Amino acid sequence: MNRDRSELAELQQQAKTRQNIVDAITHQFAAEDEALQHAMRAAKQAGLPEIQISPIQGKLLQLLAVTCNAQKILEIGSLGGYSGIWLARALPNSGRFITLEINPTHAEQVRNAFEHANVSDRADVRVGKALDLLPQLENEAPFDLIFIDADKPPYPQYLDWALRLSRPGSIIVADNCIRSGKGFEEPQDQGMAGIVAYNKRIASDPRLISLDLAMDDDYTDGFAISVVRW
Ligand code: SAH
Ligand code: DHB
Ligand code: MG
Repeated sequence: MNRDRSELAELQQQAKTRQNIVDAITHQFAAEDEALQHAMRAAKQAGLPEIQISPIQGKLLQLLAVTCNAQKILEIGSLGGYSGIWLARALPNSGRFITLEINPTHAEQVRNAFEHANVSDRADVRVGKALDLLPQLENEAPFDLIFIDADKPPYPQYLDWALRLSRPGSIIVADNCIRSGKGFEEPQDQGMAGIVAYNKRIASDPRLISLDLAMDDDYTDGFAISVVRW
């Protein structure tokens, strides 16, 4: 009994420590400015789901964009433009950011958020089903960084398109690839089937070097990061 209680206290302390670490890293390396906070607030007010990336993930996307000297970035799944602002800001003035969004209401939020963040000159939201829009991007390829964060069942198809629209040295990132470990188990639904297949593909495709990084939601979810080999 006493032993259970002290074990519980220790687990609670560890969870608190992890949260403190996330808060400190966010504060020191990934603080949101007014435009990012505005995008979050506006999305919430419009009733959009609160499923945007975390500030630490936003900063990691910027770090990866600079790593591959990104001039052109593609995102699949815009929501309210929160991740889009992080990504568009990693580009030089001459850069291009294209984000694909199926929901016209979301897309309108994205346009406003980009306007407010002063990235409309380089950032473009295209409205439609990603699998219909991707073939139209071939003449704008290659993209240096591709961020996949839309519906989960077609993740493997999004990977095919990412490979088609990239170059050696491009970086492909996919959100939600861990899902409390379900990303590596026998899938129970179509969404998880997409993610499990995605993880298997990136782990074994000889064109890629890849790693899943547990970093979000108390280290229970996170990005899959792949680099297209030279
Ligand atoms: N990247 C965003 C979060 C995206 S949430 C951020 O971190 O800020 C997923 C988004 O993908 C939602 O806005 C949803 O409407 C969109 N989406 C879902 N299915 C889609 C599809 N087939 N094609 C394009 N967008 C899709
Ligand atoms: C969901 C989707 C996401 O892209 C995410 O980051 C979190 C949750 C969802 O559909 O529930
Ligand atoms: Mg996501």
